[in-house]
Amino acid sequence: MPLLPILYYPDPKLHTVARLVPAVDAGIKQLIADMLETMYEANGIGLAATQVDVHQRLIVIDVSEQRNEPLVLINPALSWASPQMQISDEGCLSVPGIYDGVERSAAIRVQALDGDGQLRTIEAEGLLAVCIQHEMDHLLGKVFVEYLSPLKRNRIKTKMLKARRDTERA
Ligand code: NI
Repeated sequence: MPLLPILYYPDPKLHTVARLVPAVDAGIKQLIADMLETMYEANGIGLAATQVDVHQRLIVIDVSEQRNEPLVLINPALSWASPQMQISDEGCLSVPGIYDGVERSAAIRVQALDGDGQLRTIEAEGLLAVCIQHEMDHLLGKVFVEYLSPLKRNRIKTKMLKARRDTERA
């Protein structure tokens, strides 16, 4: 299976709004398998299709210690979010090396299709709640650095662009 290339911030394609997955067919199942492999290979805990330049509402996640509990969310919809918030440090495979605090709902309830096309309700708190909210933002074209101050965001943008240039020169 091929590893999918990941888009890096500030690539404007990361701001594309994803469309609904029309059907959980063989093509989507292959994409799920490739996204999981890409996520595990990159040591990430979550990956949205947006990050691999596929603009459909599909997310893969694994927050387990053993890296053996893949979670697939297709067409996820938030049905409840706790009024209590929590701040935690986030990172992103599209913004490598950058970690900063983001405030999000401490607990959420989401409805989504799983990898077999079955409708599931997922109740999450802690790291999983953070991860689902972070990945659902990607599907709306939003990267976590957009929660940071403009000053921080510009520094990150400059750093990312420089890292890209250095990689291309090497
Ligand atoms: Ni991310």
